[in-house]
Amino acid sequence: MERKKVTISDFMKKKEKGEKISMMTAYDYPTASLVDQAGIDAILVGDSLAMVVLGYDGTVPVTMDEMLHHSKAVVRGAAHSFVIGDMPFMSYQVSPENAVANAGRFIKEAGCAAVKLEGGTEMAPVVRAIVTAGIPVCAHIGLTPQTATKLSGFKVQGKDAEGARELVESARELEKAGAFMIVLECIPDVVSARITEALNIPTIGIGAGKYCDGQVLVYHDLVGLFERFTPKMVKQYVNLAPMVREALIQYRKEVEEGVFPGPEHSFSMKAEEADKM
Ligand code: KIV
Repeated sequence: MERKKVTISDFMKKKEKGEKISMMTAYDYPTASLVDQAGIDAILVGDSLAMVVLGYDGTVPVTMDEMLHHSKAVVRGAAHSFVIGDMPFMSYQVSPENAVANAGRFIKEAGCAAVKLEGGTEMAPVVRAIVTAGIPVCAHIGLTPQTATKLSGFKVQGKDAEGARELVESARELEKAGAFMIVLECIPDVVSARITEALNIPTIGIGAGKYCDGQVLVYHDLVGLFERFTPKMVKQYVNLAPMVREALIQYRKEVEEGVFPGPEHSFSMKAEEADKM
């Protein structure tokens, strides 16, 4: 069957039918192509780019220009998956006007289908402004890494009744503001179940248990290419780093020993031409 480009109405239909939505991060063309070929519904060009690709300690330093540069490559590789560009820290907090202008760059310059931004009820006016400009917004609540310092670190959120109530309230406000989807990061599964039930829009979990409408993971965690640490919520499906390291060591040795390139990787010239040369 011919695969069509995934749309927002496909996400809504999946939620209605109880079918799970798959989302994966990607930051470049080859990864986006593989994610797309795997039939994954949505690709998030996450600001986790800052850590897993650019080598920063956190997500705060990544810039609009860096996010756009990587989003463009992802869009070129995603023939079918729905691509969401993650708005970096301070690209949407200054004012709703500034947020709309930056969100517009993800759509016009990078070719993303939607943007994502972090924050609860306080971000509802920003979500409303971007949606009013015609740009779909995916919200993100719970552990919001851009403001982890304010949350006193990378901690599970909504662990007491009051915190959980605030998360449900935030999710409702963000849906009312026009968000088409919401990421729930690091919250107890009973709380994400409550949010998922309360909303008409799909919830996408990361460290938020199985009751969400879909799941997202960071690509480098899933394939074992980020070795600094592995959070509890990550399932590593393959451990590529040792394999890649071994291949690189073998290459270095073969170069040093003159084994590579062999005749099968070299180009020849007719003997008479070589003689003339
Ligand atoms: O930046 C990112 O990769 C994210 C996901 C973890 C949801 O925001």
